[in-house]
Formats: sequence, C-alpha cells, structure tokens
Amino acid sequence: MTVSSRTQVGIVGAGPAGLLLSYLLALRGIDSIVVENRSRAYCEARQRAGLLETGTVELLRDIGLGMRMDAEGLEHGGIYLQFEGERHHLDFRDLTGGRWVTIYAQTEVVKDLIQARLAAGAMIEFEVRDTEVAELDTDQPVLRFTDAAGARHEVTCDVIAGCDGFHGICRDSLPAGLVTIAERLYPYSWLGILATVPPSTDELIYARHDDGFALHTMRSPQVSRLYLQVPADEEIERWPDDRIWSELQHRLTVPGWDLKEGPITEKAISPMRSFVASPMRHRRLFLAGDAAHIVPPTGAKGLNLAIADVTALATALTQLLRDGNAELAEAYSDTCLGRVWRATHFSWWMTSMLHVDPRSDQFGAQLQLAQLRYVISSRAAATTLAENYTGYYPLSWPLT
Ligand code: FAD
Ligand code: PHB
Repeated sequence: MTVSSRTQVGIVGAGPAGLLLSYLLALRGIDSIVVENRSRAYCEARQRAGLLETGTVELLRDIGLGMRMDAEGLEHGGIYLQFEGERHHLDFRDLTGGRWVTIYAQTEVVKDLIQARLAAGAMIEFEVRDTEVAELDTDQPVLRFTDAAGARHEVTCDVIAGCDGFHGICRDSLPAGLVTIAERLYPYSWLGILATVPPSTDELIYARHDDGFALHTMRSPQVSRLYLQVPADEEIERWPDDRIWSELQHRLTVPGWDLKEGPITEKAISPMRSFVASPMRHRRLFLAGDAAHIVPPTGAKGLNLAIADVTALATALTQLLRDGNAELAEAYSDTCLGRVWRATHFSWWMTSMLHVDPRSDQFGAQLQLAQLRYVISSRAAATTLAENYTGYYPLSWPLT
C-alpha cells in the first residue's frame, strides 16, 4: 500500500543544503518535507568541510542559527601560505576591509539545523530507500520513497528541490539532453585526518612542498584536522598513522616551529574534482549544492556554495509559491551559476598553484612558485586571493 500526502516543497537530502532550505522556507511560512537515505547519526558525524565565509556566518546569525557557532566557532583573520620552506601570512581583514572566515565544522552546522527543524515539528524522514522524483513535466511533481519502517510514500509537491549531493538521483532525473556537464578530474586526492591534539597554529597553513601539498586546519582548541596530497588512486591501508605524521612533519616544517602529534581518530581519502551541471533547474525541479556542482576543497567553497544556492532558492520559491511570481525562479540557475563559476575558478586556481601535478615538469613547478611569490609580494594579488577566499559575492536574505 502507498501512503499519499502533499506538501509545498519536497526536499531530497538532509545535508546542509536540504536542511537549510527547509529552515528558510519555514521562516516564510512554506511547508516542506525532507527525505534522507542515511541515519540522523550518520549525517551528524560525516566529516567534511570546516570553513565558513563571512557572508555565510552573517546569514546564519541573521536567521537565528548563530548561537553555538558564535560560542564555539574560531574566527580567523587570515591564512598562512608556505612554499620553499618559508611561511608567509596573508591578513584578510586588512586586505578586504574587514572580512574574515570562521572555523565551524559542517557536522556542527548540520546538528544545529536538524535540532532546530525537529524542535519546530518539521518532517525529516531519515533512512529512506528507493527515492524517486516523477511527473517532472507538470506543475505537481511527485516524490516517492520507502520509509524506515518499510511503508511506501507518494508526496505530491508544488516544487521538488534536489539537495541530494553529487551521488544523488535528482540530477539524473532531469530530461536527457537538457543538462550540460563541465568537469575536471585532478590527478591527486586528499588524505584527511582528525587528531586529538591542540592545533599547532593559530590560522590555517596551506603548504606547497616539492613532495606534495599539505594543509593544517582545525576543529576546536583541542582537535586538529590535517590533509596531505596523495596519489589519485591511493589506498588508505598504505598510510599507517606514523607514516601520516612523518609526511606531515616533512611537508609542513619550518625552522623554529613544531607540529604537535596526537591520536588519529579518523582518516579518509577524498578524490578531487571540479564539476558543474547546468542549468540547475527544469520546470519545478531545482538542484542545489553538490547535486549541481563540486569543487576541489582547496578553496573551502563547497559548503559555502551549497548555502548560497539555497538562500537564493528559498527567496525564489517564496516569490513563486506565496506571491505567484516566477521571475526569481526563472532566474535561479543563472543567479547561482555566476557565483558557482567564480568559486570553480578560484578553487581550480588554488588547487593548481599548491599541488604537485605528477604530469608536470620543471616549467610547471616554476610557474607555481612565481605565482606564489607574486601573491605574497603584491597587494593586488593578495587581495584577489583574500576576497575570493572570504567570499566575493554577498548573500542576500530579504527581511520579509
Ligand atoms: P551533501 O552534504 O552531500 O548532502 C546530500 C545528502 O543527500 C546526503 O545526506 C545524502 O545522504 C543524501 N542523499 C543522497 N542520495 C539520496 C537519495 N537518493 N535519497 C535521499 N537522500 C539522498 N567542502 C569544503 O568547503 N571544505 C572541505 O574540506 C570539504 N571536504 C569534503 C570532503 C568530502 C569527502 C566530501 C564528499 C565533500 C567535502 N566538501 C568540502 C564539500 C562539502 O562538504 C559539500 O559541498 C557539502 O556537503 C554540500 O552540501 P549538500 O547539502 O549540497 O550535499
Ligand atoms: C577544513 O577545515 O576541513 C578545511 C579548511 C579549509 C580548506 C579545506 C578544508 O580549504
């Protein structure tokens, strides 16, 4: 038997994009249901991004989600760029007229959103199976899924939002031939660890080393997060903890500085990819976040882009569903893709400047070093990095 129901917006995926969309729509009096194929515990523990742009922080504060972020987040006014064995500081506040970034992990953003939505009585169906979106050529698309108890559901919607990440089903449900894909795979991956040890730095260190990129970031005053460039097809079994620490020591070292080591509580390898699907909408199916685009993490843009997409989408859907005006919904894809391509370029640029490409040669290495020297010596070049990193486009969330 199938249980039938209806809602205004059917949302696929309880990652940051789907959860924030549901939260923003509720602020405008629009109801939604979120379906997620993982468990709540899994969504809240999945280690991913850590860094929020100025505009993302301000948005979360404006909509009443800033309490724990303000208490526990770590505000950073710059980063370190390291190459040729020397570390250089970039001061974002000075370069951008006051902008900064905040370390507050995606796990915490997701926990705050789930807690707020459930407290408000929202429907989030975790551990669903066999999600389908259908009737996409009508004004009443349908969302189907099997719930955790095994009951099949069919929800008639005014709009469906595909917030189901890169491996979701919504993008592939768009009509064949509609979507254009622009894609680049990089010939390396990131090995990321979480370690129970106070960070050895006050701000993030991005290091280009002849043996590969390394990044020192953090989660809290007690927990460090570090990344190493590894070959694209690398296996995690080849990286026992002592090998990871010794490679981090090797790539991050500068005279007079110590990298503190501690127990590694998690380690995983992630591929690096740039990917943009366009358009991000077909009639009443809208894609947002990783479902539509992926960037390599060197620019820390993925989570911020997902948040920007759904901020634009919530405003467009409010106009469509409350006022019957489709203007912003029609513009949604173009509105988002402007920002997406800026972030795609920045993430590609940071990635190419800082990683060792196994196919490259002396010419490629010297170009990277020339670019890095330029960034730390020219105020114009440093400002370009700083304004992209802290968030180049403002987010707009109108008061009503
Ligand atoms: P997701 O977080 O992927 O959420 C999509 C949700 O949809 C998931 O919960 C998934 O389970 C669910 N779903 C999928 N299919 C279905 C289905 N059929 N039915 C129901 N639910 C479904 N960004 C950075 O800025 N910095 C980083 O360091 C960084 N590290 C990353 C590391 C990894 C391993 C990955 C994968 C991404 C990383 N990112 C990073 C990117 C960032 O985490 C993403 O951009 C962000 O998670 C996007 O949010 P989202 O809500 O669009 O997608
Ligand atoms: C993180 O904290 O996980 C992080 C920060 C900056 C990046 C990538 C990852 O560029």
